[in-house]
Amino acid sequence: MNDMRRVERAVETNDLKITARNVQVHYGDTHAIKDVDVDILDKTVTAFIGPSGCGKSTFLRTLNRMNDTIDICRVQGQIHLDGEDIYDPKVDPVQLRAKVGMVFQKPNPFPKSIYDNVAYGPRIHGLARNKADLDEIVEKSLRRAAIWDEVKDRLDAPGTGLSGGQQQRLCIARAVATEPEVLLMDEPCSALDPIATAQVEELIDELRSRFSVVIVTHSMQQAARVSQRTAFFHLGNLVEFGDTSQIFTNPKDPRTESYITGRIG
Ligand SMILES: Nc1ncnc2c1ncn2[C@@H]1O[C@H](COP(=O)(O)OP(=O)(O)O)[C@@H](O)[C@H]1O
Ligand SMILES: [Mg+2]
Repeated sequence: MNDMRRVERAVETNDLKITARNVQVHYGDTHAIKDVDVDILDKTVTAFIGPSGCGKSTFLRTLNRMNDTIDICRVQGQIHLDGEDIYDPKVDPVQLRAKVGMVFQKPNPFPKSIYDNVAYGPRIHGLARNKADLDEIVEKSLRRAAIWDEVKDRLDAPGTGLSGGQQQRLCIARAVATEPEVLLMDEPCSALDPIATAQVEELIDELRSRFSVVIVTHSMQQAARVSQRTAFFHLGNLVEFGDTSQIFTNPKDPRTESYITGRIG
């Protein structure tokens, strides 16, 4: 019986990628995140939804210390990745962001070639021993981001010359090139047309087999299509968090219900 329990607990711990406890975020006097607890599971897509200004991006940025770059921002609470405190002074935020990659709303390729965009992370983190190694990482990453066939003949062309949807997939390739464990995406499709959106959504579903993905979206259809778990934020509070199907079909909190039925937001 005791052994059995130990096994069960071990499995649970393995599945947990990030745990956030009592997280508070302030920008000066603005209390943007109020005492939020969240568990992010491995190999799962977690969606953050809620009205504009409720704190989705702020909370997402706490997960790879992106808020460190905002002077007036103060983060409190505990956030652990694989059981380790990511706010420990020993943790190098640059190393952390290689493990917890990020894709932004507006595709933001560097003003460099397609190749150099993807090679950037592996180069600064010394992940390739030689040119052949780096070539392999670049190809693998572009394949994972489902854009290899479109760019393989023009790897030296500037990344900024691609279409919006291609640029976003290039940014995803850049993010996966450092072999992250978690990929954070902040409204990654909001600047894309419906075809590019469908491609990126399909890609998110594939990425789930290797990574834990957290996506902020203002589209409830998108949350329902791509995620297995959904967190609903409102005025800086995490109101409800559960299986996506439960949140959308049987929300427990009246605020969640109002939002998903279109009455707030
Ligand atoms: N860089 C910033 N400086 C000051 N206040 C900010 C900053 N970013 C966000 N906020 C404030 O924090 C709150 C949450 O914003 P945000 O996380 O961007 O919400 P969402 O992504 O859900 O739209 C809002 O009140 C917003 O004005
Ligand atoms: Mg936002």
